[in-house]
Amino acid sequence: MHEITAANLHNAYGGESMAHMRYRTWGDKAEKDGYPNTARMFRAIHFAEQIHANNHFRELKDMVGGFFCNSGAVFGIGPTSQNLQGGIDGETFEINEMYPTYLETAKFQGEKGAERSFFYALSSEKTHAAFFQKAKAAVDSGKDVQLGPMQICTVCGWTHEGDAPDVCPICGAKKDKFKAFP
Ligand SMILES: [Fe+2]
Ligand SMILES: [Fe+2]
Repeated sequence: MHEITAANLHNAYGGESMAHMRYRTWGDKAEKDGYPNTARMFRAIHFAEQIHANNHFRELKDMVGGFFCNSGAVFGIGPTSQNLQGGIDGETFEINEMYPTYLETAKFQGEKGAERSFFYALSSEKTHAAFFQKAKAAVDSGKDVQLGPMQICTVCGWTHEGDAPDVCPICGAKKDKFKAFP
């Protein structure tokens, strides 16, 4: 694999792994703060980040040994509103800067597997930013967010509220590949 795309996969793996842990922690905090739906949103999205991390890791299956992962991470366990803003900030960076750059680089270098993995992540992060914005608006007005069942595509991490679709719009996986957070 080309070195720059491999480094981008390492960095993206680090970023997704940390987002996975952070959303778990912030989900527990939302539960304590009295926002069960916001907690469920964090837990559903934490699972989506695990899918992305696993996809990136699998693309690196032939790279053996230790590597540095350079990834931005948002820190702090504040009130749930602040944590949601942290989620919005992290997702927005991934949507506007990180994944488009990684995706175009993978295309340029002809790295098809990495291109697919970056595309799956980019597509999901767009939904995550919107979910966190919706939850923050509710929490800032003193309420928990109204939230139907959350559905995560276990192939690409695409995140959806409501019934699972017959086919994932991002990767084409069938309905039975979705995991629900009801
Ligand atoms: Fe995300
Ligand atoms: Fe999918």
